[in-house]
Amino acid sequence: MFLWGTATASYQIEGAVDEDGRGPSIWDTFSHEPGRTRDGHTGDVACDHYHRWPEDVALMAEAGLSAYRFSIAWPRILPSGRGTANPAGLDFYDRLVDALCEKGITPVPTLFHWDLPQALEDEGGWLNRDISGYFADYVAVVAERLSDRVRTWITLNEPFVHMVYGYGLGMHAPGRMLFLDALPVAHHQLLGHGLAVQALRAGGAERVMISNNCTPVWPASDSPEDLAAADAYDTLHNRLFNDPILTGAYPDLSVYGQPELDFVRTGDLEIIAQPLDGLGINYYNPTRITRPGEPAPGSGGLPFEFAAITDYPTTAFGWPVVPDGLRELLESLKATYGPALPPIYITENGCSYDGIDDQERIAYLDGHIAAVRAAEGVDVRGYFVWSLLDNFEWAEGYHQRFGLVHVDFETQKRTPKASYYWLKDLISSQSPEARSTEAQSAEKAQSTET
Ligand code: FCB
Repeated sequence: MFLWGTATASYQIEGAVDEDGRGPSIWDTFSHEPGRTRDGHTGDVACDHYHRWPEDVALMAEAGLSAYRFSIAWPRILPSGRGTANPAGLDFYDRLVDALCEKGITPVPTLFHWDLPQALEDEGGWLNRDISGYFADYVAVVAERLSDRVRTWITLNEPFVHMVYGYGLGMHAPGRMLFLDALPVAHHQLLGHGLAVQALRAGGAERVMISNNCTPVWPASDSPEDLAAADAYDTLHNRLFNDPILTGAYPDLSVYGQPELDFVRTGDLEIIAQPLDGLGINYYNPTRITRPGEPAPGSGGLPFEFAAITDYPTTAFGWPVVPDGLRELLESLKATYGPALPPIYITENGCSYDGIDDQERIAYLDGHIAAVRAAEGVDVRGYFVWSLLDNFEWAEGYHQRFGLVHVDFETQKRTPKASYYWLKDLISSQSPEARSTEAQSAEKAQSTET
C-alpha cells in the first residue's frame, strides 16, 4: 500500500516545553540564546500541538492521509537523556498513536529529529560515542510502549544536516563550529541508528528505516576541478550517510584529509549496516558545486564551494524549485546501490510560501509527485509532505511557512490552504487502500446514501 502522509517534528510543533516532566533539549537552550534564531523565535509554544493534537489528527483524517510521520521528543521520554522514563511523556505519544490508528492513519514515528536532551549535550552530545548506546536504550523504552501499534519506525532524521548545521557551522543547536572536526558526529549517529535498529527489531518492528537528506550534486562546469569538487560534496552530503548503511563501508574521505577514520571501531560497520526495510529520502533541491577558492580563515579549507542555482524559480526561502531533481536523485540512488537499495519512502518534500491560496505549493507538490512517478526502476512506496502545519522552522523561526495548513501563531487557529484541498482530491483519486480508513468509510457511507 502506498503511503500518503505529512511529516512534522516534535520541537517544531509541540510547544509545552516544560510540561508534564519534559526535560530541556538543546533546541530550548539554543533558541533562547540571543542572536541564534531570526527575531529570537523559540519553540516554547510553536503550534501548541501538545494540547491541540486531536484537531491536527482530525485535519489529517479529513484529508484522507494514510500515514503520519511525527517525531518523538527524547526529553519527554527521558528528561535527562537516560535513566528513568517519564510516564507522562510516553502517555502523550500513546494517546496520539491510538487516535491515529482509530482513524486508519499509519503512525510513522521518527525517534530523533534533533531535540537532544540538554543533559546529553552536557556530556558532549553526538561527539560522545556513548550517546549512541543511550539512544538505543531510549528507543527500546519507546518500542516497548508503542510497538503493539507502531509497525513502521524511522531512527534518525537527516544526520547530515544535524552534523553540519549543529556541530560544523553552528547554525542549529547545539551551535558548535567545529568544521571537519564534527565528523565523529556522523559516525556516532550512524552507530546509534544501527543499535536502534537492533532494539526495534527486538521489540518486533516490521518496517525500519532512516531519513537521509539527499541532494543531486551538479558540477558548475565540466572542468576536472569542478567535477572533483562536486564529487567531494556528493561524498560528504550523500555518500557519507548512505554508503555505510547500504554497503557497510565509508566512502573515501581522503579529500577531506581524513583517510583514516580513527573513531570507527571494529564491528561498528556491521552494526550500522543492519538490513533496512526502507530508505527515507528527504528532498528539497539540487546543489550546484564549484572548485574551492581561497579558504575562509578557520573554515578548514573545504574541497568545494557552493554556486547559486539561478536558472530556476525559488521558494520564499530562496530554495530553487527543481522537481526533476527528485527523479534524478532517485535514479542515481538506484544506479549507485543497485539491489542494495531498499524500497524508498519520500519522508519529506515541500516548500515555504506565504498565503492561504498557495498555488505555488500546489505546483511544487504536483511537479515533485510527477517526478517520483517518472523515476524509472525505483520502488517508491510513500510520499510525505513537509509539513502538515506551518511551524517553527529552526533558525528561521516562524518566518518560513511550509504547512498545508496555515497557523495563526497569535490565536493558534488552523486554516487549511488551497494545497490541503488539492492533496485531499489527489489522494481520493488514488486506490482506496491509499486513503485513511476514515476517508474510506465516509466515502462508502456517501455511496450508499446516493
Ligand atoms: C528539513 C528538516 C525539517 C524541516 C525541513 C524544511 O531539513 O528535516 O525539520 O525543517 O527541512
